[in-house]
Amino acid sequence: MKRGLVALASALAVTGCLSSVAETAQGTAVDHGRALFDDPRTSSSASNTFTCATCHRSEKTELARLDPGAPLGGVTARKSFWGGQRVDLLESINDCRAFFMDARTPWSRDDEDARAMYAFLAQLPPSNPPSDAVPFTIVMPADLPLGDRQRGTIAYDLACKSCHGTVHDGAGRLATFIPVLPDQVVAGHASLSPAELRLVFVTKVRAGAFRGGGSMPPFSREVLADEDLAGILAFFGLD
Ligand code: HEC
Ligand code: HEC
Repeated sequence: MKRGLVALASALAVTGCLSSVAETAQGTAVDHGRALFDDPRTSSSASNTFTCATCHRSEKTELARLDPGAPLGGVTARKSFWGGQRVDLLESINDCRAFFMDARTPWSRDDEDARAMYAFLAQLPPSNPPSDAVPFTIVMPADLPLGDRQRGTIAYDLACKSCHGTVHDGAGRLATFIPVLPDQVVAGHASLSPAELRLVFVTKVRAGAFRGGGSMPPFSREVLADEDLAGILAFFGLD
């Protein structure tokens, strides 16, 4: 069972840090970590299609995408993670593996893969100035006033398309179990009022897998403003 966001926040215990693995043999460990970052097998689950790179950028690129996860350049120098909810880097990574990638077994500190991932992350050029935490504000789902269609078109392409594919036909989506937006979701909730239907979308985007299950990541206010999400609803014709 997935824990809720509130339960997640309260369950975040303070433990040691991962820095002891930094001395892992560089060359090979970094290469191994880099390969792992782009490999869905960082989770042993057969149903997982995500890699770390699905949600995080690792090097400074001009990738036109709004990532739900923070950029990871400089992450090993941060003092806390998940917007300050976590103080342990390995646990932060294991959260992603468990919540979004359906991994059943957390990496331990001695795990070769965990060490390689650390070695890879540690040598990334910092993408942000070093900070205590990258801001990650959870927004409680609530109905939104109808937004700007044009803004929503852009936001959809940057935030949703990499997983859901093209709007209305799903072309290029990551997997067939990922619904075609908005059509399959609208069809699946035919009995709902327009306001209730909008709330299905808002809830999924704001809470992701933490409410109602699944594997979609939540989008924080910093990544996706309410105006962007309202725009996406307008783009979907959900008025
Ligand atoms: C489906 C999307 C998704 C996938 C896949 C994913 N993450 Fe995350 N990750 C997130 C989100 C959302 C957060 C919380 C916001 C944040 O702090 O970045 C997060 C947080 C983190 C953090 C804390 C960053 C910080 O500074 O707060 C680390 C480290 C991390 N992930 C590493 C990984 C690694 C390594 C993998 C691959 C094994 C991975 N993630 C896979 C979405 C994802
Ligand atoms: C990292 C991949 C990923 C991204 C990015 C993503 N989604 Fe999803 N989404 C999924 C997956 C996987 C599912 C199906 C499993 C689940 O419900 O989590 C899903 C399901 C949904 C659903 C179905 C909810 C329901 O109850 O039927 C909606 C609505 C949705 N996504 C909207 C969005 C919107 C809008 C965006 C962009 C702001 C977006 N998603 C971005 C992976 C993603």
